[in-house]
Amino acid sequence: MSGPFSLQGHTALVTGARSGIGRALAVGLAEAGADLVLVGRTGSMEETEKAVRDAGGSAETLVLDLAEPSGIPSAVRALLARRRIDILVNNAGAIHRAPAEYTEYEDWRIVLTTNLDAVFLLCREIGAQMADRGSGKIVNIASLLSFQGGLGVSSYAASKHAVAGLTKALATEWGPRGVQVNAVAPGYVATGFTRSLREDGERHAEILGRIPAGRWGTPEDLAGSVVFLASSAADYVNGHVLVVDGGWMAR
Ligand SMILES: NC(=O)c1ccc[n+]([C@@H]2O[C@H](COP(=O)([O-])OP(=O)(O)OC[C@H]3O[C@@H](n4cnc5c(N)ncnc54)[C@H](OP(=O)(O)O)[C@@H]3O)[C@@H](O)[C@H]2O)c1
Repeated sequence: MSGPFSLQGHTALVTGARSGIGRALAVGLAEAGADLVLVGRTGSMEETEKAVRDAGGSAETLVLDLAEPSGIPSAVRALLARRRIDILVNNAGAIHRAPAEYTEYEDWRIVLTTNLDAVFLLCREIGAQMADRGSGKIVNIASLLSFQGGLGVSSYAASKHAVAGLTKALATEWGPRGVQVNAVAPGYVATGFTRSLREDGERHAEILGRIPAGRWGTPEDLAGSVVFLASSAADYVNGHVLVVDGGWMAR
């Protein structure tokens, strides 16, 4: 691939790349020419590694538990000492489904730590190097719950609203130094994350009935938007939250 959407010669780091949306994003980025650093909390990244190689990219796995933020800066600095990261995709996410009054503080913390603290630390470590270099792209995976409250997911909605805010704050700080920070907000996508919703007949029908596309999203539906935001075609796009939801928000 050549032209403004090509990622040839660029290295992308994708968190939560073992499954779901993260795997599809890693493959999409590799198809556009990028090499990949895949971040997961277990070493079993073989399927994603193979899919990335089949798509033409190289793949290296970095094991990191993002719910334990104290380990993030040192691990990332060790990586950056030997590899340049041109594209950071903060995709990993945690969700806790329970009414607010039954949400334990520990569960609240895991969601906020994984979805917000870890995103901040990865942005800080990798974004600082990008800003010093004068170029780089960060794409954070937000959610429809960056705009809406959802149902029974207060910690998740709070964390994803914060991801949208962090995206805009960093875009403002680093835009003058050549780094674009944007977010993609997926609609309802069929992954392990949403299995319980799809198994609940009533919720499934309710959600499906509001999606103008008439179907749930697939992880692959997200790849093109992330490739775009990671490419030079998006050099003048900064601080934007791009909704990819089959039309849910338009309704
Ligand atoms: N599916 C949807 O409808 C939807 C909608 C809006 C936004 N999103 C967002 O999309 C992103 C990906 O979700 P998905 O739908 O693809 O679900 P998924 O398949 O469950 O992926 C979540 C990923 O996050 C990783 N992760 C979770 N906690 C982690 C931790 N402590 N350390 C390292 N990695 C961790 C998981 O790793 P393991 O594989 O090791 O568990 C997994 O790879 C999330 O940010 C989610 O909020 C999803």
